[in-house]
Amino acid sequence: MKVDVLLGLQWGDEGKGKLVDALTRDYDVIARFQGGPNAGHTLEFNNQKHVLHTIPSGIFHSDKLNLIGNGLVIDPVVFKKEVDRLAGFGMDIRHNLFISKKSHLILPTHRLLDAASETSKGIGKIGSTLKGIGPTYTDKTGREGLRIGDILESSFVAKYQYLRDLHLSKIRQFNYPFDLQPLEDEWMESIEFLRSFRFVNGEYLVNEWLESGKRILAEGAQGSMLDIDFGSYPFVTSSNTTCAGACTGLGIAPGRVGDVIGIFKAYCTRVGSGPFPTELLEETGELLRTTGREYGSTTGRPRRCGWLDMVALKYTVMLNGVTSLIMTKADVLSGFDTLRVATAYKINGIITTEIPFDTESPVEPIYTELPGWKEDISKIRDKETLPENLKGYIRFIENHLGVPVTMVSVGPDREATVNMG
Ligand code: GDP
Ligand code: IMO
Ligand code: MG
Repeated sequence: MKVDVLLGLQWGDEGKGKLVDALTRDYDVIARFQGGPNAGHTLEFNNQKHVLHTIPSGIFHSDKLNLIGNGLVIDPVVFKKEVDRLAGFGMDIRHNLFISKKSHLILPTHRLLDAASETSKGIGKIGSTLKGIGPTYTDKTGREGLRIGDILESSFVAKYQYLRDLHLSKIRQFNYPFDLQPLEDEWMESIEFLRSFRFVNGEYLVNEWLESGKRILAEGAQGSMLDIDFGSYPFVTSSNTTCAGACTGLGIAPGRVGDVIGIFKAYCTRVGSGPFPTELLEETGELLRTTGREYGSTTGRPRRCGWLDMVALKYTVMLNGVTSLIMTKADVLSGFDTLRVATAYKINGIITTEIPFDTESPVEPIYTELPGWKEDISKIRDKETLPENLKGYIRFIENHLGVPVTMVSVGPDREATVNMG
């Protein structure tokens, strides 16, 4: 068997949570492979909205298994809150959630370091979610990190104190005010809570599942344009959000990757700082934000909005080897006379179809205009009844990217999808 991978092709928030939940019926296992509580994956069904940060989006299907892979960074405090919220809906997820022993722990001082570092950057800040992601991955690659499996060792508290003290000296250098005690108390309590979950050697488990014929869907977090290597560095997150991250974040060989499902919004959004060539700073951007309810699922920050950027999409389709596309939020584009799609950039007078290395030079998008549609499509479930101009919009994207759009999402609900196959 192979592992199919679903990941975001833009700057995150493409609707991964909704689609993973909707596709879970076709799989036995859903496995998150990177990121941490910077992610906010929204699912809606039965008029109820849920936001997941660490827990895979297959969790609402009680007969399916979920794995938090070694590539994640976990904040026990956020994790406990997520589990408690699900318990409020009568769910006990201990029977169908596994956590890799090799995933890393976010300490309270990682969060403080994130905040101190961002504050020190002033207007040059990344716009981090301040969940401690950067400092935790820094410790992982710096070989200082604490892992979930360490919780089971008798040396755990000593290891924690050593790392905490290293952090404290750095935070003091930033001259950043803090009160650690309440954060530490809450964290230690949450560590105790975490002990009741199943810690596993995720890489063995995932390969055993494959051998026994289980169908696995790997769920990405963030989006490819936030990838640590290929995103608009330094305005990125600290993990590989691209397909390769599924191999290192779960322990599967590259040849085990099956379909790569790339998900993108029918337009673009970005939260936090960094280049966004097609950003709309006037009323059209505001209209997209209001109609699309574009406010961060994790931080509540307003998302920056703009037209679809095909230069970025072509880049991320290439990086990930995308085999099929899902377009979300098509319903939000209803009502426009004309839609614009960027197919090239002009940088310092030169036209290019490549993402530039330099994130400083102003980029002017070169647009192609396409006719819009007026109909409310949120109730449509059959591709034949989609407006002709929407079908034309999709065809244009497919031709440009050379990959088929197999599904279109027309609303936040689990059922609001149109199969294009
Ligand atoms: P994720 O991080 O990729 O899982 O995406 P988020 O959950 O952060 O943001 C996507 C937002 O759009 C959520 O509020 C979803 O409920 C919502 N959403 C997902 N698909 C659609 C869609 O097709 N139409 C509309 N109107 N909303 C959608
Ligand atoms: P999901 O999985 C959108 C952005 C932050 C910031 C940058 C670095 O819901 O799509 P970090 O906290 O990782 O240090 O922030 O990355 N960012 C996201 N933007 N969706 C996300 O996740 C994001 N996770 C991080 O806004 O610009
Ligand atoms: Mg999100």
